[in-house]
Amino acid sequence: MSTTAIALGVAIAAPLLLRLAGSKGPARTATIPQAEERVVIIGASSGIGSELARIYAGRHAHVVLVARRMELLQQLVQELTPTAGSMHAVQGDVTLPEDVRRITVESLKALNGKIDTLIICAGIISVLPFEELAGIDSAKAATGGSDANGTSDSDYCHLLPTNADKALEASTRIMNVNYHAPLNLTSHFLPALTRTSAAGNIIVVSSMAGKVGAPTRSIYCASKHAAQGFFEALGMEVERTGVHVGIVSPGTVATDLRQSAVDLPKAEGSSTSSTLAAPVKVAGTKKGAMTAKACAEGIVRGSDLRQHEVIMPWFYKVSLVLQMVSPSLVRWLAKKKYGYL
Ligand SMILES: NC(=O)c1ccc[n+]([C@@H]2O[C@H](COP(=O)([O-])OP(=O)(O)OC[C@H]3O[C@@H](n4cnc5c(N)ncnc54)[C@H](OP(=O)(O)O)[C@@H]3O)[C@@H](O)[C@H]2O)c1
Repeated sequence: MSTTAIALGVAIAAPLLLRLAGSKGPARTATIPQAEERVVIIGASSGIGSELARIYAGRHAHVVLVARRMELLQQLVQELTPTAGSMHAVQGDVTLPEDVRRITVESLKALNGKIDTLIICAGIISVLPFEELAGIDSAKAATGGSDANGTSDSDYCHLLPTNADKALEASTRIMNVNYHAPLNLTSHFLPALTRTSAAGNIIVVSSMAGKVGAPTRSIYCASKHAAQGFFEALGMEVERTGVHVGIVSPGTVATDLRQSAVDLPKAEGSSTSSTLAAPVKVAGTKKGAMTAKACAEGIVRGSDLRQHEVIMPWFYKVSLVLQMVSPSLVRWLAKKKYGYL
């Protein structure tokens, strides 16, 4: 049998095996009926998070919505209160330790001291090529890329990036939202999940960017890879306590996530990072993107089945197998998607 035939066989069989390996026994809804589930959704004001809110409300669950934009949360509360078991909004910035503590207390208070499911969906992105962000391109342009040749320190300044601080600042902001905040939220909610639920779940919305690299998304990829590593390890540590950790890795979803790009200019007076000064063309096609609703449905299904890993849409599982069999093909596909061929 040729190597190509073997690669193809693996590419087709592995997703099926992954799917089987990912689901564990009967649905969790047998233990926690839908209308009794107590859910906290972090990052619920828009996109995937708001669709999660709609699904849990439709199941008559008890839900707490968390984000910074309180007006959006309040609109959702108004829309969903008639169907939900109960629906509350808690405003907070998950990068602020004092807010995380308050979010935890207020959420538990709203849920009468009990929680079954913590969904960490808050996230932000970066969209510029790293060289552009750090001013490596402009340093080259200013000097024509000439080599250094001199005796004083200043003779070498033209070889330095013009904006390294900006790159570091973007990285710090993204890591704070996409990695440190999920870690801190987990610390805060874990005791209650362990003690007050018959089958506590922590569900983290990562990304395919946490699995494979993509040009123009270097800092975002780094943050999602960090979260992926943390939650994979944590899942094994806490399994014995009855708490399940599920990591969801969607491909492109049709939301306004790109509005949160920390490396694009923000509108003046914007209270959050979610309003760009002007519409900007960003690398990376949204063609074939899944809807936020479909993504949210996949997340809820993964939580019900207590799947350790949810990858959506299904064909991205093939790319993970391909990554082992033919990494150069996956690099080619990623470069094509982001216009780097
Ligand atoms: N869209 C995609 O293509 C895609 C693909 C794969 C994975 N994902 C992941 O899916 C998750 C949800 O993204 P989305 O696409 O639904 O984008 P979105 O509509 O921009 O949602 C992001 C959510 O995060 C919240 N958030 C951001 N910073 C926060 C902070 N400091 N404190 C509290 N909440 C904060 C935002 O609320 P406020 O601004 O009101 O605070 C908003 O509710 C993210 O983790 C993202 O990385 C998205």
